[in-house]
Amino acid sequence: MKAVSLFRSRFGGEPDGVWLAPGRANLMGEHTDYNDGFVLPFALGQGVTAAAARRPGRRLAVCSRQEPSDLAEFDLDGLAPGRVTGWAAYPAGVAWALAAAGHRVPGACIAIDSGLPAGAGLSSSAALECATALALTSLGGLDVPRADLVTITRRAENEFAGVPTGIMDQSASLLCRAGHALLLDCRSLEASQVPFDPAAADAGLLLINTRARHELTDGEYGRRRAECEEAARRLGIPSLRDLTNAAEADSLTDPVLRRRARHVVTDNQRVLEVVALLRDPSGDTYGEIGRLLTQAHASLRDDFEVSWPEADVAVEAALAAGAAGARMIGGGFGGSVLALVPAAADQGRGPVRDAVTGAFARRGWTAPEFLEAVPADSARQVDG
Ligand code: GLA
Repeated sequence: MKAVSLFRSRFGGEPDGVWLAPGRANLMGEHTDYNDGFVLPFALGQGVTAAAARRPGRRLAVCSRQEPSDLAEFDLDGLAPGRVTGWAAYPAGVAWALAAAGHRVPGACIAIDSGLPAGAGLSSSAALECATALALTSLGGLDVPRADLVTITRRAENEFAGVPTGIMDQSASLLCRAGHALLLDCRSLEASQVPFDPAAADAGLLLINTRARHELTDGEYGRRRAECEEAARRLGIPSLRDLTNAAEADSLTDPVLRRRARHVVTDNQRVLEVVALLRDPSGDTYGEIGRLLTQAHASLRDDFEVSWPEADVAVEAALAAGAAGARMIGGGFGGSVLALVPAAADQGRGPVRDAVTGAFARRGWTAPEFLEAVPADSARQVDG
């Protein structure tokens, strides 16, 4: 394992353990989490690995294969938001948030390796936080329930790293199960496992990294959150989750806020429709899910306005080449597209890959990357 060799070369000796936290893709429900709505993510096979060992004293050292010039070291008792910047703010933030929740975090050395492309919208930051959280709690013998770890890692991201995300990504990384998607009610935080095994229905999931990098720190994400809060305020409801149908959004006179609200209410409905289809499969379950995916893309593009040109072209090319449906996933403005394709290579993945690659080449864009997604398990120890 590459995290282990990095550990040996940076810190000497052997790690006490190795933990893996997966990235995620989201089947349905985008920009609904911070509106108290529903999301339906699943964990990926790929993730962030942390090889770690306890060390005496109160210091935490972290290094990463993706940031080779950087060895970050902090005093565990001197951590505060704003004191650590860049990638190291995520692991440092986890140590800070664990301590803030009353846990005694041990001194440790952690070597990180990410198997997720950065900026691809597959939640590499949440995976980094969750891998660090499992390493630190295991090394310290801390018994922290997963649901609490979700809150702690999210707090690290929101308050320490200063990124105003919702609760979906950390929940996916810590709570998902192989062969399932996770239905999360972001208001009650009730989570349930929904059987999701496209291969059993001769379907497959193809992730298309459009190579347009997505950053949640650039302000647009925060602006969308503020618009949703303003829309809810004008409608006189606690949050957009409380809208039950799209017509209710029509009373908003501001056209931008009306569009934002319409996206949220229709995407929440789409989550529940996909869940109903998966729980009660019929002959055309995946065809129906595909149509909902494509509808969601249009809603994210036209109503929520978070899509980007490479995503629109990838969706269009995938559909033309036989995908049952496709949409952008994650926060938007860059990152990945999820396409639902027939599983047989000659009908599905092959032609879709070729079509998307060709469409990008004709426009002179960087070639996209493809990743086959299979709903996988949540964060866990992976050695021994
Ligand atoms: C990012 C955030 C999530 C969620 C999505 C959009 O991935 O981290 O909390 O808001 O964007 O659905």
